[in-house]
Amino acid sequence: MNVAASSLLQILEHLEQELARGATRIEIEVLDPDRGRGLYAGERVAIDGVSYVHRPFRVWVDLAERLGLRLLTPRAIDDRFVRLVFERLARTRDSAALGDREAAPTERYGTDSEFARITKLEDPGFVLDMTDALDRVALKPGARVLDLGVNTGDELALLRARVPGLRNAKLVGVDHSASAIAKARERFAGDNVELHVADVNELGALGLGKFDLVLSIGTLQSPGVDDRELVRRIVQDHLAPDGAVILGFPNSRYVDGEVEHGTRMKNYRQPELGLLVKDVAFYRKYLQQHHRRVFVTGKHYILVTGIAGQGE
Ligand SMILES: C[S@@+](CC[C@H](N)C(=O)[O-])C[C@H]1O[C@@H](n2cnc3c(N)ncnc32)[C@H](O)[C@@H]1O
Repeated sequence: MNVAASSLLQILEHLEQELARGATRIEIEVLDPDRGRGLYAGERVAIDGVSYVHRPFRVWVDLAERLGLRLLTPRAIDDRFVRLVFERLARTRDSAALGDREAAPTERYGTDSEFARITKLEDPGFVLDMTDALDRVALKPGARVLDLGVNTGDELALLRARVPGLRNAKLVGVDHSASAIAKARERFAGDNVELHVADVNELGALGLGKFDLVLSIGTLQSPGVDDRELVRRIVQDHLAPDGAVILGFPNSRYVDGEVEHGTRMKNYRQPELGLLVKDVAFYRKYLQQHHRRVFVTGKHYILVTGIAGQGE
């Protein structure tokens, strides 16, 4: 079907009808987005006296994501049109973070889980959002960093790669998954990285001391983690006077090789951000009350960054 003259509402209706009748693959022909570079979606492009609706490529990427579809690489039909193929994603499980519910609680995110397939360092948004947060923290060479829920150490690897002067800094990671920590130990063998298999609820027992940065990404909302108490312990027992925190809350889910933006409640078709907003608002206020300037940033992970300093 050629939709170069159709409105987005008409295209949406077509795709929804196809999905409702059980289609697993839908093809449409659209104006090559490159023909209207610099125009906004809906503006028109005249080619050989005929006017077509322009849509940037991102429109098709967004549409696919919002409808739970995979967009294959567009192929040119001629010098005006490209064919887009949308495939329905295989939803084998309805889990935001791919934890293995059958595994022992400590191994839900272990090296045998679906989660082990995810490499955060291949998500440009995550890398750039974390880099931005780390720039705000402005760690000094030799800083001490603690990562709670470190898993196999993607965040530590990011820190070492993106923060100048941190290559030899003392990094400490804690996670209750023995298999993830074993992999992290292999990864950082010979580096100044200390890794503990332990429950973050019992951090005090490790006698870790104080840190210039404590980060915890995608961990505070885990079942069994007393997140409010844990953040209290971080701030009161594990932060140097000018220490910073970065708390990361998932705002995405992984499905069939794709990342979908937004947290979802069970059976909600589109993202529902109530719980995320409540947690973020709580930690923002808590950190402000504890003399931190707080920044809320990020896309697939909402990052609450608190650095030394007063106020809003
Ligand atoms: C969703 S994963 C996030 C891992 C990593 N920070 C990331 O973003 O890729 C949550 C991690 O927290 C760990 N975790 C959950 N509850 C924990 C607890 N009570 N004590 C220690 N680690 C825990 C899990 O084993 C897992 O590695």
